[in-house]
Amino acid sequence: MNLAQRVMRIKPSATLAINAKAKALQKQGAHIVNFGVGEPDFDTPQHIQEAAVQAMHEGQTRYTAVSGVDELKDAVVQALNTNYGLAYHRENILVSCGGKHALYNLLQAIVGPGDEVIIPSPYWVSYPDMVALAGGTPVFVPCLEANGFKMQPDQLEQAITPKTRLLIFNSPSNPTGVHYSRAELTALAEALLHHEHVSIASDDIYYRILFTGHEWANLAMVNAELRDRTFIINGVSKTYCMTGWRIGYLIGNTQVVKAATDIQSQSTSNPTTISQFAAVAALRGDQHEVTKMVRIFEQRCHYVLDRLAALPQVTCPTPAGAFYVFPNCSAYYGRRGPGGMIESSLDLSEYLMETAHLAVVPGSAFGEDHCIRISYALPMEDLKEGFDRLEKALQTLSA
Ligand SMILES: Cc1ncc(COP(=O)(O)O)c(C=O)c1O
Repeated sequence: MNLAQRVMRIKPSATLAINAKAKALQKQGAHIVNFGVGEPDFDTPQHIQEAAVQAMHEGQTRYTAVSGVDELKDAVVQALNTNYGLAYHRENILVSCGGKHALYNLLQAIVGPGDEVIIPSPYWVSYPDMVALAGGTPVFVPCLEANGFKMQPDQLEQAITPKTRLLIFNSPSNPTGVHYSRAELTALAEALLHHEHVSIASDDIYYRILFTGHEWANLAMVNAELRDRTFIINGVSKTYCMTGWRIGYLIGNTQVVKAATDIQSQSTSNPTTISQFAAVAALRGDQHEVTKMVRIFEQRCHYVLDRLAALPQVTCPTPAGAFYVFPNCSAYYGRRGPGGMIESSLDLSEYLMETAHLAVVPGSAFGEDHCIRISYALPMEDLKEGFDRLEKALQTLSA
């Protein structure tokens, strides 16, 4: 069967091999500790679930406007005002089926053949493929571990060409958990000021999962001149434990938002109506559950960093938020496991899966082969068990 050219531009997920192995081992009765999860391990708060039930009972089960219901757009506007200090209107908002879909729609609306899109690396796995699907060219900026895997202003300057259409920016970051301070953002904003042809996709999906002592901001917040060319990607998935409800949003320039809405109108139409009303309850309701969840992630993060610090020759920048760490385990490359030499993050991930029944995501999926991604969105007893296994597996390699 002939496939369309665009399929050739994307690669299958590097995590698929690991997942397939985990499933096969589970089938044989193995207890896998899964450090690979990309979502909070808590249930959607009760009041949000109830709002969805109520919406169904009230007949909110039909199509809505493609770009979402006004109730949700108003709640997003309010949240932007409270959390960002930025004023937007309904026309600036497109509600999509998750933050991923919002970004996809944006890329389809503004990126095409010949356009370059700057992606600081390590990056969230989907960025390069989504750019490629839009016909654009990803331009990676390798960010050093010594800089906390954060892009430096001179690196940004050097990456910008006349063909640059967009910078995709994510803070706190998946996979590293690091976040950019206001001072760091201000310096990057200055580098962008003189390049008016460059827009910014600010992927703020982890913005509320930020630990003590850190203040959240994005590029549009630190420099008003960037506001009209910054597109915010956000949603309820991570903040409110609603990954399965599929509600995210794109916020920005009305003309672009209208174009992205037209694209959505020819694919999914509106996101699920019931989920939209649940998202209203999430944004407008009690935020206590969010605070509680962030506190728990922070406690786990301390535990994880302590365990990592005890692993010889493993280094890791300290995260400020999200629920991931990205340790550099490359000191263990060049050693032999039962399945052969370990030469890469994929080899190490396969070794950990086979010998320790521990699932991690190879850093190569995020553009950094020295590291593996560990998610701590799992209960403390599993975290403890997982780190015991990791420690033992690395010790075995050293022997
Ligand atoms: C950096 C980043 N952006 C966007 C998303 C998409 O989230 P959603 O579930 O709302 O599509 C994710 C999900 O893992 C993510 O890690």
